[in-house]
Amino acid sequence: MTSVLEVKGLYKSFGALSVTHNVHLTLEPGARHALIGPNGAGKTTLINLITGVLKQDQGSIFLNGEDVSTMKEADRVRSGLARTFQINQLFRKLTVLENVALSISERQGNGHIFWRPAWKNSNVLDEAMALLAQLGLQDNALNVIEELPYGRQRLVEIAITLGLSPKVLLLDEPAAGVPSSESPIILDAVDALGDDIAVLIIEHDMDVVFRFAKSISVLVSGAILTEGTPDEIAADEQVRAVYLGESLDA
Ligand SMILES: Nc1ncnc2c1ncn2[C@@H]1O[C@H](COP(=O)(O)OP(=O)(O)OP(=O)(O)O)[C@@H](O)[C@H]1O
Ligand SMILES: [Mg+2]
Repeated sequence: MTSVLEVKGLYKSFGALSVTHNVHLTLEPGARHALIGPNGAGKTTLINLITGVLKQDQGSIFLNGEDVSTMKEADRVRSGLARTFQINQLFRKLTVLENVALSISERQGNGHIFWRPAWKNSNVLDEAMALLAQLGLQDNALNVIEELPYGRQRLVEIAITLGLSPKVLLLDEPAAGVPSSESPIILDAVDALGDDIAVLIIEHDMDVVFRFAKSISVLVSGAILTEGTPDEIAADEQVRAVYLGESLDA
């Protein structure tokens, strides 16, 4: 089986600060993998390297067996790699449905003509509505983004990202800033994604991590301390000492 994502021997420094140190990471198709580690461990940097926002100093990144190490960000998206958009990248005055339809049009190569009615073709709208239904957003289809509660906006980010038909979805703290009453909606939606999408999630809430992930990598000071199943990570003395502390006993 070809891994959908393979990170090999990745290094990145900001000046004298080594933030990514010989990182190896592999995602199989349909993976539910969590990346955990203390603040400043280099988790977001790793996602920025994988997506091509940052350029690594050394090492390589493969998507479906293809070396994308020097590929531009947009080309990596076309190759099936997607991360959630930040909220300020949504079209805040457009509706939820329009935002998702635009993303699908973009994938089809028609994003540049979005101001014309062309993207309003029924195939695109049908696909957009199906995605909204999948994420429980169907009743919000005609709401303007800026009117939505924050948790819903973050769900729309995920819907937009799914409109790109990714094979690998990178989520950097998808429930951050969302009221705890709403965060399960987001994580359940991610959980319900199909086996054809591998998910890498960065998350600080250990309840979420242990409920969601089938495998976990622990990043400390830019290096992978260990990886394993949730049970293995929970039982790992080093992880408990460095990161989880006594919180697992609670
Ligand atoms: N562009 C940059 N220039 C210089 N230093 C940076 C840059 N981006 C990140 N850093 C530093 O690299 C280290 C890793 O940051 P990163 O954001 O990857 O950590 P993180 O694990 O995502 O942390 P958090 O859990 O707080 O989000 C930090 O010390 C940070 O200050
Ligand atoms: Mg971060």
